[in-house]
Amino acid sequence: MEKTPSFICRHESGEALRPSQFQEDGEDYSADGMDREKVKQSPDRKLLKYREYIKKKDRLLTSIYKISRLLNRPITRDKILQSLVNEMKRVFDLQRGLIFLINKRENTLEVKYVIGFSPHEVKRAFAHPLDMDRDKCRETLVAKTGKTIYIRNAKNSPVITEFDFKMDRIWNRISSVTMPLKIKGEIIGVIQGDQTSKELILSKSDINLFSAFASHASIIIENARLKEQYQKKIAQLLSLQEITKKTSSTLVLKKLLSIVTTNALKITGASVCTLLLTERGHLEIVSQVGHDYVYKGGFRLKIGEGIAGWVAEKGVPLLVGDVTNEPRYIEIIPGIGSILAAPLVSEKRVLGVLVVASNKKLAFSVDDLELLMVFASHTAVVIDGVRLYEQVIKERNNAANILESSPNGIVMIDEDKKIRALNRKAEEILGLRRKDILDRKISEIFKGKRICEVLSNVIDKREIIDNQEVAFSRNDRSTAILGLNSSSLIPDDRGVNAVIITIRDLTEIKRTEEMLKRVEKLSSLGQMSANIAHEIRNPLASINFNAQLLSKRLIADENTGEILKDTFEGIERIKVLLKRVLDFTKKEQPSFSKGSIHNVISEALSLIEPQIKNRKVIIKKCFAEGIPEVVFDPHQIQQVFVNLFMNALESMEKDGTMEIKSALGKYDKEGRQVIITISDDGIGIPPENISRVFDPFFTTKPDGTGLGLSIVYKIMEQHDARIEIKNRENKGTSFVLHFPIKTQI
Ligand SMILES: Nc1ncnc2c1ncn2[C@@H]1O[C@H](COP(=O)(O)OP(=O)(O)O)[C@@H](O)[C@H]1O
Ligand SMILES: [Mg+2]
Repeated sequence: MEKTPSFICRHESGEALRPSQFQEDGEDYSADGMDREKVKQSPDRKLLKYREYIKKKDRLLTSIYKISRLLNRPITRDKILQSLVNEMKRVFDLQRGLIFLINKRENTLEVKYVIGFSPHEVKRAFAHPLDMDRDKCRETLVAKTGKTIYIRNAKNSPVITEFDFKMDRIWNRISSVTMPLKIKGEIIGVIQGDQTSKELILSKSDINLFSAFASHASIIIENARLKEQYQKKIAQLLSLQEITKKTSSTLVLKKLLSIVTTNALKITGASVCTLLLTERGHLEIVSQVGHDYVYKGGFRLKIGEGIAGWVAEKGVPLLVGDVTNEPRYIEIIPGIGSILAAPLVSEKRVLGVLVVASNKKLAFSVDDLELLMVFASHTAVVIDGVRLYEQVIKERNNAANILESSPNGIVMIDEDKKIRALNRKAEEILGLRRKDILDRKISEIFKGKRICEVLSNVIDKREIIDNQEVAFSRNDRSTAILGLNSSSLIPDDRGVNAVIITIRDLTEIKRTEEMLKRVEKLSSLGQMSANIAHEIRNPLASINFNAQLLSKRLIADENTGEILKDTFEGIERIKVLLKRVLDFTKKEQPSFSKGSIHNVISEALSLIEPQIKNRKVIIKKCFAEGIPEVVFDPHQIQQVFVNLFMNALESMEKDGTMEIKSALGKYDKEGRQVIITISDDGIGIPPENISRVFDPFFTTKPDGTGLGLSIVYKIMEQHDARIEIKNRENKGTSFVLHFPIKTQI
């Protein structure tokens, strides 16, 4: 192509006009442009034209100023392009206007904005970018040469190319002016105005103005581009900072992964973002956003396989501008143009790969790569942290589960004597709720109780306790015997020194132990007393015989008669006692039957009616309804009640009250029970005697035998029943009897 002048102005003849400075030489081509000849103009006319020129220039400057000001607003480059075309159309009074920008990658000229076209035409214009080499027309020529082309009437213009001719027909174009947009000598696109119905008439000065407009427009476009780039960078940095904050505060891996992919997509402007983590020599997709392609589950890539596999293996990022030329590329999602992948490296280990992909080719720059690298390395560190945290939590949960399922109560007490932790069993044994005692001092929780003293010593004096037994009464008044053990001081999870106390409920064990001891005592005492009784029986028989003999031989005077009477009475008392002792030791097997316990109580009461009347004792019977029948030996149980009633009567002065209550117990581990309580308001049993009253021969009465309660105990034991003593708060004693409800004899 021949060397082109700095601007070409083609009239219908195709003659190029030489450039001239309107202001300097004061010359102009005719405004209507019809005459090619220079015409002499009158000074008035010249002035008029000049004035018009000034006005136009003023309009132009105002426009440029207006558009430049837009740059200071948060406005996109596309908006700026629109304003430029709109202003061009307005200032030069054009029918239609267009702006094209060069796409260097594709080597095309793309329409960016049009005005004055029908919607159908607009669509068409955007759909067909011009190929810079193939499509020979005025637009590509201007974009290549950087020269202005003005065609006043295309119909009779010989310079119109075949392609131009086709285009003019399509666009219904008569005349046009096409100007380059240049930045520092580089052409970035073209701006064009055209007409459909009437010719576009431009004077030389108009073209000068047009070219001034174009060069300003170029600067504005470049500024807009720089601004946009700069803003994108700021936005990326801001979102990176934001992500850093978000990810650092997330401790749930799944949530973290989705934050990572969502934001990686955002900062790189990609269409898909996929995060893969390494798992035993493979890469597994753990999070993906931006594409509705659904994996049928279990998608895996071998390390070294595909782009992500390669990145994972080498530990370096990869930027692929066009996947069609990339041998490593394996299609997973259809329609991908370019890919950017960065490894997630933490402590020199590759944890996975972060991949962003676009359906366009060459979508990512080196800047994007750097950004994704920063993002990926941050992500790797956070993933590592979260994994560690999850592992710690898992281990802690395991430990917590072990503690929870321990059959012993476990309590952790710190140096401030506050309860730091406890398990479910401890709650149960102590009869306290976790929420009520956590972080509270033991002095508040166990105020005035022995356990408080013991635990305080453990903390204060560093005492280690080993199976120390402590009686403990719960808030619901039930009592227990606890076995306590302590560990040495260890730091707890907050670094505070603490001791671990294990608690066992020994109540049941103690009760059994006690019972066994008593049974043993009863039988050995019984055995011993039986032996003694036998030993006494024979000499007593001979004493009795001899005394009888003597009494017959003696001359009875009053004195002797008294002595003999006392002697026989004494012998009789010893006989009765011996019989009782022997009765007690006799191994009588109970004969069980099913019956009403209320009936037995009533029968026992009628047996001791004379004594009740004698002592003027008031009897209160509180029998509950619906008490089921119990399996027992009625004769033996009657004996139990007689003994207990007699003791109650004997403990009271005249006018005392004895209360007999029956109740149905709750279900517990021993099953359901019938509970009978016998209460008196007598002298009560001093605490030091409580453990001894069931012993045989223990009595505080001058003529007592001390056998009543030991018999009671023995019978109860044979019935698998339980007896307890409760000192009443004001005065008197209660005996509580628990009879198991058995369905079978
Ligand atoms: N209801 C009661 N109130 C006060 N003390 C009692 C009561 N029941 C039993 N005891 C005490 O228990 C002791 C033993 O009772 P027991 O074995 O029946 O023998 P005894 O009645 O012959 O003394 C009594 O001596 C008495 O001290
Ligand atoms: Mg008695």
